[in-house]
Parts: sequence; structure tokens; C-alpha cells
Amino acid sequence: MAVLNKPPVTTAGPLNGILTWVDQRFPLMALYKSQVAEYYAPKNLNFWYFFGALSLVVLVIQIVSGIFLTMNYKPSASEAFASVEYIMRDVPGGWLIRYIHSTGASAFFVVVYLHMCRGIMYGSYRKPRELTWIFGVLIYLCLMAEAFFGYLLPWGQMSYWGAQVIINLFATIPIIGEDLSVWIRGDYNVSDATLNRFFALHVIALPLALLGLVVAHLMALHETGSNNPDGVEIHADLDPKTGTPRDGIPFHPYYTVKDLVGLAVFLILFSAVVFFAPEMGGYFLEYNNFVPADPLTTPAHIAPVWYFTPFYAMLRAIPSFFNMQVWGVIVMGAAVVILFALPWLDRGRAKSIRYRGPIYKSFFAAFIVSFLILGYLGVEPTNVWGEFGKAVPIVGGDYVATWVARVLTAVYFAFFFLMPWYTSIDKEKPVPSRVTS
Ligand code: HEM
Repeated sequence: MAVLNKPPVTTAGPLNGILTWVDQRFPLMALYKSQVAEYYAPKNLNFWYFFGALSLVVLVIQIVSGIFLTMNYKPSASEAFASVEYIMRDVPGGWLIRYIHSTGASAFFVVVYLHMCRGIMYGSYRKPRELTWIFGVLIYLCLMAEAFFGYLLPWGQMSYWGAQVIINLFATIPIIGEDLSVWIRGDYNVSDATLNRFFALHVIALPLALLGLVVAHLMALHETGSNNPDGVEIHADLDPKTGTPRDGIPFHPYYTVKDLVGLAVFLILFSAVVFFAPEMGGYFLEYNNFVPADPLTTPAHIAPVWYFTPFYAMLRAIPSFFNMQVWGVIVMGAAVVILFALPWLDRGRAKSIRYRGPIYKSFFAAFIVSFLILGYLGVEPTNVWGEFGKAVPIVGGDYVATWVARVLTAVYFAFFFLMPWYTSIDKEKPVPSRVTS
């Protein structure tokens, strides 16, 4: 048994025996060394690099709190709403678990949006990290599906009508649309069958997919090593004696300790929301969702939760052409799918925004501002918009929002479609050969 000749794990103390036993049967130390203790990360990682680790933390929070919620939740149209009320009022600590989970959903999108913004700012999607980026975009798609399925489960008015609106979007697809939407619902209306399948997808299928994708995301990242705020490849400059990057430091203890500081700040903010503002003024938990689902009464104002509203604003802004409403759905889908192409649209020499020229910076700023304003417009009631799906001319102040959203949608897409042009002509600053901190 050659494996049993592996040297003992040189940890002093009582754990040494058991660790050695495990290590002779499982590549424990090899993994620990390659992925943590001897994983060299750039020494200049800043604030923006907290959000990957924080996304992992929120993923764990959601899975653990979700398991406890499932113990008392009933996925049936006649019992779901009451079972959530039961969790809130009667289950010991139930209110806390539920608020942790509902706040966690919004926190997930906060940290993931900041994480993606960092990736774009520092060009982390560029060669050789294209696959890390692609796995990231797949994670984002899964996360949106996970949040959408989860939102139906409390079976409140917003759950019901939100699902109705989104599933009806599929019905706008020519020829197959109607059948497709019935297939998704499992019924002609959102019903018990819909709730059952959304529950299955929310508690098992998508969490599994998410976990698998996160593992793939991190494996791809550890194959290439992390990028950094200067966009310089630290593995291009190795110390001749040790063979390790001169601008790198071991992930443990340097970044494990640094990430703990970020984690502490995050948990303080997270707890403040959970304990003092779990509804967050109706943005994290919408007030209409405290009313049980009623298939006969449509709420006056249906809006998705804040993290979907930029895309919802695009949907509402696009008019129907040739008697088809599908264009808004196509634009909304394209706004996410275009992210996949980012590594191949960028022709700049500099990766990081620090060394980009004024044209890139202007486009990037316009992109961020358009995304934020679209998000704001997406929560506004339809009476500032005009009738859903119809081309509305500017008639008085009311419908200006529709036109603003159209212009901002164009700005959003211009960031991507014009990127090959403006990144190749921009006046960039010289990129240093080593990190600058
Ligand atoms: C559950 C969600 C996610 C988790 C748990 C996660 C986790 C991580 C972690 C731990 C890192 C290394 C630390 C860091 O760079 O901050 C990382 C890096 C990265 N992630 Fe994510 N991530 C998630 C979602 C995403 C998404 C949605 C995208 C993009 C669409 C993305 C793109 C990237 C990129 C490009 C890097 C490399 C950054 C660099 O080296 O500069 N991630 N991710």
C-alpha cells in the first residue's frame, strides 16, 4: 500500500493523527496547499474583491435557512400562505429564519451585482479568464431563476401575479408560445401544479445547479489565478528562487484574514436589515405579498422585486411591432445573454479601468447610470409608462418615462455593441509591468 507511505501531516497537536489518516486516503493536504495555503493571489486586491467570498457566504446562508424553512412550509395552493404565517408567528425562531432567507435573496443580488461590476471594471472577463466569466454569467442566470421560483412560494398576491406576468411573456413567442406557457405552468392558470413544480425547482434543482456552477467557477479561477485592480498578470513575473509570483501572496493567511474583516462588516449590515428593516420599505418584501393570492383580483400595480427591475423597464419600454409583443421579451433576454460575449467584444490593450482611455470610461459610466435609472423606472407604476407593450408618444409628462427607458436601453446596449470600436481607438495609459500598490 504505497499511499500509506505518504508522510504524516506535520500539524502539531492531537489532530495530527486523524489528519494523517485522512490524508493517506484522500488528497486533503494537496488540495489545501494548492487551493489555499499555496494559492498565490495578487497582493493588491482591494475592497471590490470581497464580493466573491461574500457571494459564497450568502449562498451558504440561503441553503441553510432554506432547509429550516422547508421543515414547516407546505407547497400547496390551499396551505402555502398560511404555512408562511405559521412560520412567522408560531414556529420558534421562524420569523428570524424567514427574514434571514428573504433578506438573503436581496443580499445575494447586491453582492453579485457588485462582484460583476468589479469583473467589468478590471477586465477580469478577458483572456485567460473567459471561462470563469462564462460560469459566472450562468450562475447569474440560475440565480435569477432561483429567485423567480422562490417568489411564488409564499403564495401572496405579488407571488401569484408576478408569476402570471412572467410566464405570460413566454406566450408572446410566435407559434409555440401558448403551448409553452401552459407547459411551464402545468395548467391554464398559475395554480397548485405550478406551485408544486416551482417548489421542486427552487429547493433542489436550481440549488444543485448553482452549487455545481460555483465549483466550476472557482476551479476555472484557480487554474488561471486571480486578476487584480491593475489588470497585470502576476504569473508572468516569477521569483527565480521560489518559482512563485513576485507580486503574489498566499491566500492563507493573508486573504482569509482580510475576508474575515469584510465578512464582519457584511454581517453587521445584514443583521441590521434582518432585525430592523426586513421589508426594506417594500423593496425586499413587497406589501402586496402580505395579501393571500387571489386569482380573481389583479393588484393595481405589479412590479418585480428590485433586482429584476432594470430588465422589466426594458420590457415595458419596447413597443409591439407587426402585431407581436415578443420584442420586449427578446430585448430583455438579450440584455443578459450579451454578457456572455463580453470577453470577445473588448479589444483594448489595458484590462483595468485604471489604464483605459476617456471613451471607455464615458461608456462605462453611461452603462452603470442607465442600469440604475432603468432599475428605478422598473419599480414605478405603469401610469407613468402608458399601456403595457404599446408605442406611446410623448403626450404630457406621463409617458416621458417610456422614452427615457428606450434611450437608456439603447445606452445599455451601446456599451456592448460599440465596444469593439471604442476600445480599439481609445487613448489608453501605459500598463505597468508589475502591480502598483
Ligand atoms: C453564487 C455566485 C458567485 C460566487 C459564490 C462567486 C464566487 C467567486 C469567488 C470566491 C471569486 C474569487 C474572489 C473574488 O475575485 O472576489 C470569484 C471571482 C470571479 N467571479 Fe465570481 N462568484 C459568483 C458569481 C459570479 C458572477 C455572476 C459573475 C459574472 C457574471 C462572476 C465573475 C467572476 C470573475 C470574472 C472572477 C475573477 C475576478 C478576478 O480575478 O478579478 N462571478 N467569484
